[in-house]
Amino acid sequence: MLTDELEKKLAKRIDGRLLEKERERKSEKDGFDKNKVLDEVFDKSTMMTLSGLKNSGTISYVNGAVGSGKESKTYWAVGPSGNDLALKIYLVATSNFKKRYPYLLGDSRFTKIKKGTRNLVELWAQKEFGNLSQCFKKGLPCVRPITVIKNVLVMEFAGKNGVPEPTLVETEVDYNDYESVVSIIDDLYNKAKIVHADLSEYNIFKTKKGLLFFDLGSAVDIKHPNAIKFLERDIKNITKFFVKRGLTVTNPSDIVKRIMK
Ligand SMILES: Nc1ncnc2c1ncn2[C@@H]1O[C@H](COP(=O)(O)OP(=O)(O)OP(=O)(O)O)[C@@H](O)[C@H]1O
Ligand SMILES: [Mg+2]
Repeated sequence: MLTDELEKKLAKRIDGRLLEKERERKSEKDGFDKNKVLDEVFDKSTMMTLSGLKNSGTISYVNGAVGSGKESKTYWAVGPSGNDLALKIYLVATSNFKKRYPYLLGDSRFTKIKKGTRNLVELWAQKEFGNLSQCFKKGLPCVRPITVIKNVLVMEFAGKNGVPEPTLVETEVDYNDYESVVSIIDDLYNKAKIVHADLSEYNIFKTKKGLLFFDLGSAVDIKHPNAIKFLERDIKNITKFFVKRGLTVTNPSDIVKRIMK
């Protein structure tokens, strides 16, 4: 248990650290975000990565956030030729950091863990890029990956004027959508050799040209020891959604069997 004194010291240290980051953010943000405020407490390394992407001509500027999850924040950015991009920034230092801190206090490995966290976060970004590339190469309908630098994943923007395409949960759906989702899961497994592992109505865009899968950071190789478990879960999630929308669909275990044939 932490004593009050320790807790106070801890809070002070965290506030100091966040202030420091806030100062860094303020002094470095000008010049690449077109005066739009990046509303997350980014660390210096992320700011450097964004500057690097600007200098290499990948992005011209970053606009507002279009999505934020627990582990990442997605921004609409614009490339040199006016092309819309999506930047998924995996969060290294966030306010969540505060919540994690008590678990680290008094642990002599703290600095190592901090270093490890960054490595892990960068690894997630690389993994999502790799998964997207694997799908894209096989011609499967997913958002197009462009590059990944450290914890920043750059993709083609799915949507218009900074408004992302609607996800399945935001649209009307019919039996064709269900069949299409199942067929994409099948192709992911049998052609790209991966399982999404975080599939739901929130991670599939419905566009005029058809469905698009995204958020592939959790996806695993079909040889992963839990691949089948994840596949079953993905299919169950998606079945539940379509049933909730009033459709009569195939038994999930029959779909699993069919995919694994
Ligand atoms: N390539 C893209 N083009 C346009 N918008 C995107 C793109 N990728 C992500 N988004 C937007 O950002 C949101 C979050 O993206 P994603 O699901 O990949 O991140 P996440 O961290 O897993 O978020 P959550 O935990 O909420 O699922 C999406 O719902 C979508 O609105
Ligand atoms: Mg998501």
